[in-house]
Amino acid sequence: MSVDPWFQTLFADRIGGAGYGKGTEIYKFEKIKRAKRKALADHPDRQLLDFGIGENDDLAAPVVRDRLKAEVDKVENRGYADNGIAAFKEAAAAFMARQFGVTLDPVNEVCHCIGSKPAYAMLPACFINPGDVTLMTAPGYPVAGTYTRYYGGTVHRLPLLAANGFFPDLDGIPADVKQKAKLLVINYPNSPTGAVATKDFYKRVVEFAHAHKVVVVQDAAHILLTYQGEPLSFLQVDGAKDVGVEVHSLSKGFNMIGWRMGWVCGHPKIVQAYADVKDNSDSGQFMAVQQASAEALRSVEIPREIRVKYERRLRKLVTALAQVGFEAKMPGGTYFLYAKAPTAAGGKTFANAEEASQFLIVDQSVCCVPWDDAGAYLRFSVTYTAKDEAAEDVLMAETVARLKGLNLKF
Ligand SMILES: Cc1ncc(COP(=O)(O)O)c(C=O)c1O
Repeated sequence: MSVDPWFQTLFADRIGGAGYGKGTEIYKFEKIKRAKRKALADHPDRQLLDFGIGENDDLAAPVVRDRLKAEVDKVENRGYADNGIAAFKEAAAAFMARQFGVTLDPVNEVCHCIGSKPAYAMLPACFINPGDVTLMTAPGYPVAGTYTRYYGGTVHRLPLLAANGFFPDLDGIPADVKQKAKLLVINYPNSPTGAVATKDFYKRVVEFAHAHKVVVVQDAAHILLTYQGEPLSFLQVDGAKDVGVEVHSLSKGFNMIGWRMGWVCGHPKIVQAYADVKDNSDSGQFMAVQQASAEALRSVEIPREIRVKYERRLRKLVTALAQVGFEAKMPGGTYFLYAKAPTAAGGKTFANAEEASQFLIVDQSVCCVPWDDAGAYLRFSVTYTAKDEAAEDVLMAETVARLKGLNLKF
């Protein structure tokens, strides 16, 4: 038995206090990893069909990698980047203008982040005092909620239900919650549901923000992976810049997950507050990475190719899953297909999506991610490894072959 270190009782309550590291709860992604290990151990010759990975499968474009290589050798890029270089801010503003027709002042209305994840950790620091509320869609990307709690606030979950088109029911939020709410965090194209926003929805968000004095944070991580209509920025809607910011990322749309670049843009006072908190937390992304990211943002072709590939793969997956009984529909955006989990398969019944996914992984080596936050759903990602379109087709045929005999019930 391991002995506690002398400081065990000193851990802060926000991470579990003296009980830190002693919990027995196993997190979702750890359960998936364990199930994958079991599938590989039990069936070493059976290929794991991995729809669980939520990361782009390709390298960044050659022009971006070449630019990084050149910038690495420049002496002016060696130091602290603080709140970012003008070249990146200008490229981000020019991208917003070209892609969405949104005009931003690169100096005061754009500030980079080292990937968008840390921005969700920092924005609550700008607004949340103990007792304040952050409104967050569920399922959703959890970071802003975690930090809201770290700062003594609470999170009010807004379930994303198919019946509401995977939009939150803003009218249904209790009056006392609205009164304490300071932040509304939304995410469209939505991960994992794949829903895309409409102008009408964003107009309602702007009205809601004014009516209840709530700042809006719109997570646009997947925005360039939009298949239903043109990508829509929150800032395209009249009045949006008065009430919030949109957070962009180069991860998904430019195959730059590991490069860690994104930006916060919108109301200058919110951008300023974010930049102040950021300045007290990090010293900015390596300037060579910022220059290479600016290069990426100048390209129309790079995100177009990535979108075309994931759209093609999603269409194939919709067809494959529909053949075995899933109610699979083409998502409006993201590289995820979100489909109702089966309630039974292969003579077994499942109480929730997690049980269904564990069965599919262990029994069939078909990996997907369960979501039980608002109904029981499975998320299939098309970021699997396949060297060409023929390999994609082989993978789809194998997926159908594995699932067909299971007699999936929904
Ligand atoms: C919805 C959503 N928002 C934000 C992020 C963070 O992306 P990054 O930190 O790579 O910009 C992710 C990454 O998975 C995501 O899925």
